[in-house]
Amino acid sequence: MADVEALKREAGVEACQFVTSGMKVGLGTGSTVKYTVIELGRRIREEGLQITGVPTSIVTENLAIECGIPLLELSDVDGLDIVIDGADEFDPDFQLIKGGGAALLREKIVAQESKIMVVVADERKKVSTLGAFPLPIEITPFSHSATVRALNRILDCRVNIRMAGDGPVFTDNSNMIADAHMGPNISDPESLEIEILKIAGVVQVGLFTNMCDAIVLAGNNGVKTILNPNGKLA
Ligand code: A5P
Repeated sequence: MADVEALKREAGVEACQFVTSGMKVGLGTGSTVKYTVIELGRRIREEGLQITGVPTSIVTENLAIECGIPLLELSDVDGLDIVIDGADEFDPDFQLIKGGGAALLREKIVAQESKIMVVVADERKKVSTLGAFPLPIEITPFSHSATVRALNRILDCRVNIRMAGDGPVFTDNSNMIADAHMGPNISDPESLEIEILKIAGVVQVGLFTNMCDAIVLAGNNGVKTILNPNGKLA
């Protein structure tokens, strides 16, 4: 595969075709959508694009400020026109695993408030069945070991608290991340999402089901946009 960074840039920039003046835009998190944020900043400066953004993480908020994108609080707007975000995996039904960057809760809230969700990715993210990428689950620090045991029981797989050096990773919401090593066998992501959300200590799970309307996918043969036949752009 060509230089992965170049592919990420291609996908990130191409997705900006969906953004026009007047839009309220959800700004995702990650190393691919970073290029979308940078490109939107360029269009604001050089082409007079007029948008407001709602970031999905503190990292993206800081980048958007640097790029000169005017920002709003999600609570202060009545819905967004579009969100552009990355993914860790996507399957043929446009179901996603997200949260590799620990931003899944804000990402999901923003996606839920957006009319359209466009995912930016390179071909490494395309799978036939979700789950090779460890499934990120945001959990409360309170009784986190009990929550991990509860997850173990229903998922029947290894579940690890995500660490950064000697300590746990804390999300922008001061929660922890449990990564569930399911293996590539998540054949019914919708049911699994519901099951996991039943556990009291779970704040959110990185399964994004029936949310993605299009994937801007970069690969060796260039970048293409795949529309979800059941989505809002079809
Ligand atoms: C952040 O929590 C994630 O959901 C990212 O959107 C996802 O991990 C994709 O990131 P990359 O584009 O860096 O692979």
